[in-house]
Amino acid sequence: MIMELSIDYSDIVKVYRMEQTYVMVKPDGVQRGLIGEIISRIERRGLKIISLRMNVIEEATAKEHYSEHETKPFFSSLVKFIISGPSVSMVVAGKDVIKIMRTISGATNPVDATPGTIRGDFSLDIGRNVIHASDSSDAAAREIAIHFKDTEIWKYSKVDEVCIYE
Ligand SMILES: Nc1ncnc2c1ncn2[C@@H]1O[C@H](COP(=O)(O)OP(=O)(O)O)[C@@H](O)[C@H]1O
Ligand SMILES: [Mg+2]
Repeated sequence: MIMELSIDYSDIVKVYRMEQTYVMVKPDGVQRGLIGEIISRIERRGLKIISLRMNVIEEATAKEHYSEHETKPFFSSLVKFIISGPSVSMVVAGKDVIKIMRTISGATNPVDATPGTIRGDFSLDIGRNVIHASDSSDAAAREIAIHFKDTEIWKYSKVDEVCIYE
């Protein structure tokens, strides 16, 4: 028996309010082979990757990225670690993506990170917590501009958005 299934979304026009955030798989995440795992958690949640790059971040860029921590005792070791090897930078888009990426990432200190979060599943030490995600809309705008040119960000529609968003 052949079952015909047809869903016609053609007369539905939706406008999605999407935020953008900056996400980094830190050098420890790359070394530990977690790029795919992390990207897959982002994608399966329904979020959209609109830019993606692997590079070794320049020291000046790392200092600018973490400038809010300039006066902290861990600043120099943090910068040194972030530039110690390749990391993967992304711009991720979606409804409430800033908050959702923070929740997916888990608490800064892995000892407080809930199992099921990236940090709660894959890390033990605060200086090796495998992922960065912007913590506010101001930080997201600032960090995206630090790491990406406008022309590197791809504002495309994805076919599954009609199912993901109400
Ligand atoms: N007390 C600390 N000792 C060592 N490293 C720290 C400490 N606090 C924060 N870090 C490192 O600096 C990064 C930036 O800190 P913060 O902005 O507070 O956390 P988050 O990455 O969750 O936004 C953290 O992800 C962590 O790797
Ligand atoms: Mg932070």
